[in-house]
Amino acid sequence: MADDGSIVGAKGTNGDPRDLAELRVGLRAGLERATATTVEPVGCATRDAPETTATPTPHRMCSILGDGTTSHPKGAGPTREERRPPVALHVVDHPLAHSLLTALRDRSTPPPLFRVLSKRLALVLCIEATRSAATETVEVETPIKSTTGRRIASTFVAVPILRAGLGMLEAVTELFPEVPVGYIGLERDHATFEPSLYYSKLPPLQGRLVLLLDPMLATGGSATAACAALFQAGARNVSLVSVVSAPEGVRHLTDAHPSVEIYTAALDEGLNEHAYIVPGLGDFGDRLFGT
Ligand code: PRP
Ligand code: URA
Repeated sequence: MADDGSIVGAKGTNGDPRDLAELRVGLRAGLERATATTVEPVGCATRDAPETTATPTPHRMCSILGDGTTSHPKGAGPTREERRPPVALHVVDHPLAHSLLTALRDRSTPPPLFRVLSKRLALVLCIEATRSAATETVEVETPIKSTTGRRIASTFVAVPILRAGLGMLEAVTELFPEVPVGYIGLERDHATFEPSLYYSKLPPLQGRLVLLLDPMLATGGSATAACAALFQAGARNVSLVSVVSAPEGVRHLTDAHPSVEIYTAALDEGLNEHAYIVPGLGDFGDRLFGT
């Protein structure tokens, strides 16, 4: 189901290499357009009814999508393609995120360390994903005098996609101990790359920003199917927190659910013939759980 309530199938490829090639070409064109497009900060506070103050999201995370400038021939306005709504892709450009991702990519990193690094990187990503959270002003007594401070007024829900998303969950529960947690179980078919839903247990989602946790956005089939389940269950604001994204997955997800924002540590080159992200980091679930 799309954000407007209409049904959108999980559109992954059928495993036909031609499908993947077409997807890649489309994505490349799309991202070329995106590099000439201003990426608007569409934080949760701007999507929620703003009953409290919100911190504007800086654009510095969107470096991969260019500097937002577009030149037009004299007298010519932007083309229809250039007026396409901006892709809400935030590539987190932080030295710590880079270091952690590099260690995760390293094939010699063993599962126990992989788990630790995944959680740390998820912390960095989730801090960015909640940057626009609404805050409220409160009185506070310091040992010296009373003053005012701000505290988070938004409510979040964490939804890891099983299995690999579990590697990111502890980061959210550590940052927001009260956060309700839902689960979506999806498995990608090895031949068709199509996801199938095998489990779903969700808390109330209305009025809350859903942090959807899935470390790999490859074809985008899993994230798209998960978002469909979330919107069907009443979600209105969803941010996907992923470790590595492929252009194909970004396009697939944002075409199906344009309101979904993506927070990721890297936008990689693309997919290989097995729909694995290149250069990626391999099979996240296998590396996390040592399978
Ligand atoms: C992986 C990953 C994503 C999905 C991404 O899960 O964790 O959920 O693939 O691929 P997509 O964008 O092409 O859908 P997988 O199906 O391997 O299951 P697992 O988490 O149980 O390992
Ligand atoms: N799932 C993974 O775990 N890795 C990929 O590269 C693609 C999907």
